[in-house]
Amino acid sequence: MDETYSFTYHRMAIGSLSECDRELIEQARTAARTAYAPYSRFGVGAAARLDDGSILSASNQESEVLPSGMCAERILLYWLQANAGPRKIETLAITAAQGDAICTPCAACRQVIADTEKRQHHPIRILMVGTHEVIIVEQAGHLIPFRFEL
Ligand code: THU
Repeated sequence: MDETYSFTYHRMAIGSLSECDRELIEQARTAARTAYAPYSRFGVGAAARLDDGSILSASNQESEVLPSGMCAERILLYWLQANAGPRKIETLAITAAQGDAICTPCAACRQVIADTEKRQHHPIRILMVGTHEVIIVEQAGHLIPFRFEL
């Protein structure tokens, strides 16, 4: 039997987004400037809007022991898991510090974002941000079909 996996996403100009989403993107861009990425020279910023309206952000941090570095998204999600209590993530914005290209999360981050979405029983909207446009996915699970589940 053949089965097909598909989902709808939106590609939009940043200028056409709501003020809420543009504010979140600004926070992700500000966070990207705090990246410590001397080895890859690729800074990433992530910002999450929680269901109480607050915004938390993080950036990628690299280490002299290369695999010990960590992506912006996972730093943010693990910190929230430890500190945000019962608050849920509504929207997560991801941007690079450099270049115009849309920044998409790596596979490991997709797994962890989907884990978080499952745990909080609430979809996490993902904004994958470039300089001029953004791709919006309405739930993180769409980005990682057949993900691992215990
Ligand atoms: N990086 C992130 O912060 N998020 C991703 O989803 C992909 C990659 C970081 C890790 C590393 O510090 C640099 O970008 C280059 O891979």
